[in-house]
Amino acid sequence: MSAKCASSSTAKENPLAQAADRMRQSSREDVAFEARLARHHDELRWLYMELYGNGDMFAELVDQMRAFHAARSEQLRALDEQREAAGAWYRDRAMLGMQMYIDNFAGTIRGVEDKLDYLEGCNVNYLHLMPFLDTPADRSRSDGGYAVKDFRRVKPELGTMDDLAHLAEKCHERGISLCMDFVMNHTSDEHEWARRARAGEGEYMSRYFFESNPQVIEQYTRDVPQVFPTTAPGHYTYLPELGQSVMTQFYPYQWDLNYRNPRVFNEMMYNFLYLANQGMDIIRIDAVPYIWKQLGTNCRNLPQVHTIVRMMRMIGEVVCPGIVLLGEVVMAPVEVVPYFGTPEKPECHMLYNVTTMATTWHTVACRDTRLLRRQLEAVCGLPHEYTFLNYLRCHDDIGWGLDYDTLAEWGMQEVPHKKYLNDYFQGLTPGSTSRGELYNADPITGDARFCATTASMCGIEAAGFEGSEPAMDLAIRKDVMLHAYLLSQSGLPIIYSGDEIAQVNDYSYHDDPEKADDSRYIHRGRLDWSLVSAIDEKSSVQDRVFHALEHLEEIRRAEPVFDADAETHVVDYSDPAILWIRRRSGKDTLHAVFNFSDEPRTVWMPERGLYKNLLTGGRRRTFENFELPAWDFAWYVTW
Ligand code: GLC
Repeated sequence: MSAKCASSSTAKENPLAQAADRMRQSSREDVAFEARLARHHDELRWLYMELYGNGDMFAELVDQMRAFHAARSEQLRALDEQREAAGAWYRDRAMLGMQMYIDNFAGTIRGVEDKLDYLEGCNVNYLHLMPFLDTPADRSRSDGGYAVKDFRRVKPELGTMDDLAHLAEKCHERGISLCMDFVMNHTSDEHEWARRARAGEGEYMSRYFFESNPQVIEQYTRDVPQVFPTTAPGHYTYLPELGQSVMTQFYPYQWDLNYRNPRVFNEMMYNFLYLANQGMDIIRIDAVPYIWKQLGTNCRNLPQVHTIVRMMRMIGEVVCPGIVLLGEVVMAPVEVVPYFGTPEKPECHMLYNVTTMATTWHTVACRDTRLLRRQLEAVCGLPHEYTFLNYLRCHDDIGWGLDYDTLAEWGMQEVPHKKYLNDYFQGLTPGSTSRGELYNADPITGDARFCATTASMCGIEAAGFEGSEPAMDLAIRKDVMLHAYLLSQSGLPIIYSGDEIAQVNDYSYHDDPEKADDSRYIHRGRLDWSLVSAIDEKSSVQDRVFHALEHLEEIRRAEPVFDADAETHVVDYSDPAILWIRRRSGKDTLHAVFNFSDEPRTVWMPERGLYKNLLTGGRRRTFENFELPAWDFAWYVTW
């Protein structure tokens, strides 16, 4: 062995030289860590002391940050360096995400690894794996994975932490990033902290909100809106063994964490860094507006939430600067935008474009693009660095969070309008081909949200059931058009797994007692791999949808007009059924035009000119107007 070492001259083969290299490398990295820490230390300490006033706990946090950095693999540190140099890597127009449940998609984490070729075939380079950390075995107490029992253990039926780290490695080799949920507002009542709190251990009780004063409970109930008014009403859950109630804003088995306790903050940050070190690239901070509670307020988006997110951003930037924080802020736009922070003090890198999503479906039901134009124009008016995650459907319901003040000016009132939308998408309105179910219908306020897959909402389910070719053609056209519209926006587009093959609603959850109460399972069905095989069957629904999306994704990747920095506007066109997005990059201007109506429309270009149709490639053509069939779209470029 030693003879072999001695005889080898290159550092690559010589273990001593390798060790020296590693030392040089690690001291270079330590210097980088210390430099990043120095950059953020004062602000981090200031915010920490302001919130907690506890210097010892701050010192512990910094020690742990150093330890997590030291434990970060060489590959991940190299990726950090590469990404730091590249800047906002997640804004590249070639980015395309997919959101999926591991079990529905491929059974296990290893199963996902085996399917990476398929995902690459879908042009996906960002994979959001829905919650996979350990949750109670009883699914009716897991909220689809959002009731975490152990932040450092994978649900055994899905695999292990090693499987996850291995998947991350394989993904990185292919240029695919991984996103995971970090459920920081609450833990499952089976989490060790909750179990010890339930046993009366004061140290652990202080990590949650215990209350025995009925007046306090009443006041919370009065001031704080309900998250699940029908499926889980109330904000507290009574624990007879303690004679006290514990705060549970979501389900009764999800105990809200008390971030007033610095131990909670520190430990949750260690969990975050631990998960980042498994190779996670994007950390989705679940339900972040809820994490700070203050009696007498509505307990949403309080200033302390922003302090915490800002600290988390700095902690990430110091330890693992390659990662991205994605905030889940399902709120009105005025509440969402502050989570970007300011250019000097940024918070989240990316946020869900939730109002645009809800307004899109409103537009589908109303065939009137006026509200959507306003919404898109407002988004276009924000600084370019603000990156949104765009989507048509995700794992949650669609809450009808629309701009009701504007709708009221046009004669539409909130309660009847929500009823209209819900009726339309359930297929109860004449002419509607959508299928789906209500979610958390509140008999008191008349409020309800909606669940279904994109394909079912576009009429693919109904057309398949009726066996009607013309209905299917129209439904597919609508589905593809909505994806084209998604890809026409700046930001990161995310496809919901199954949408690439137009998978329809899954009603089997009704027969599963662990799921039956939660209609979100209607769009959380198992991926039907026989439909994936049908992609290759000429003219099948899957062939038509999959290849159409593939074509659009390839165009987006190739054309600079789709750059995040393209100057983007909504054209004020006279026909309210037409949505017109204009993107300018360099000399090129893209006219992305969408017909949100059941009739064909003639569209007039701003002037007679030479246009290139991006969809057909082909030669440029001179024209002044063109025909756009119902629910169709066009992508024309001019110079
Ligand atoms: C988020 C998730 C949702 C979950 C809730 C509670 O809003 O998207 O699915 O029920 O958080 O964790």
